[in-house]
Amino acid sequence: MQGRTLILLIFSTNVCATVFPKRNKVLFPSAQRLKRHDRAIPVNTGFHHSEEEMQLLYEFLLGGFNIDDNFHCSLKDKELASMRAAKKFNTIFNDIIPKNITEIRRLTDRISRNTGELKPEDFERIVLTLVYTSYQALRFQGHQKDTWVESLVNIFQILKQDLTMK
Ligand SMILES: *[C@@H]1O[C@H](CO)[C@@H](O)[C@H](O)[C@H]1NC(C)=O
Repeated sequence: MQGRTLILLIFSTNVCATVFPKRNKVLFPSAQRLKRHDRAIPVNTGFHHSEEEMQLLYEFLLGGFNIDDNFHCSLKDKELASMRAAKKFNTIFNDIIPKNITEIRRLTDRISRNTGELKPEDFERIVLTLVYTSYQALRFQGHQKDTWVESLVNIFQILKQDLTMK
């Protein structure tokens, strides 16, 4: 019996190693670069650490944000924008998540080659990329709109797949 358990263990460890080889692959290299640049910013920076933070993020998103022509995002609500946590929001939106179609495609390609479950900070960043992409899809018209909508669908599929894996 013990022998069998051992074989099973070795087998499953090996299978996991081959099935999830890219589990720790870096999905947001920008966060890594940022950490090197500013040591005060943790690599897993985000709002996923506590319920209170998630609540705050929700309020930020409800308040909405503006996107300028350089794809720079800023919170609409002055009061929310003056909060300390708004700095984190700005960092994620302006320094971590991809902002143009090329970069977003690169991200979705990277994730589709990644078979493991997403890390909490990556999941959050992908959700925020989805939010950003939907803003852009609303902003643009015609062919550009179609391109943004296509990215939106790709990101949504990735999130849905991760949720159904659990
Ligand atoms: C997309 O964004 C990246 C990173 O900010 C930038 O290097 C690249 O030139 C941009 N590409 C286009 C087509 O705007």
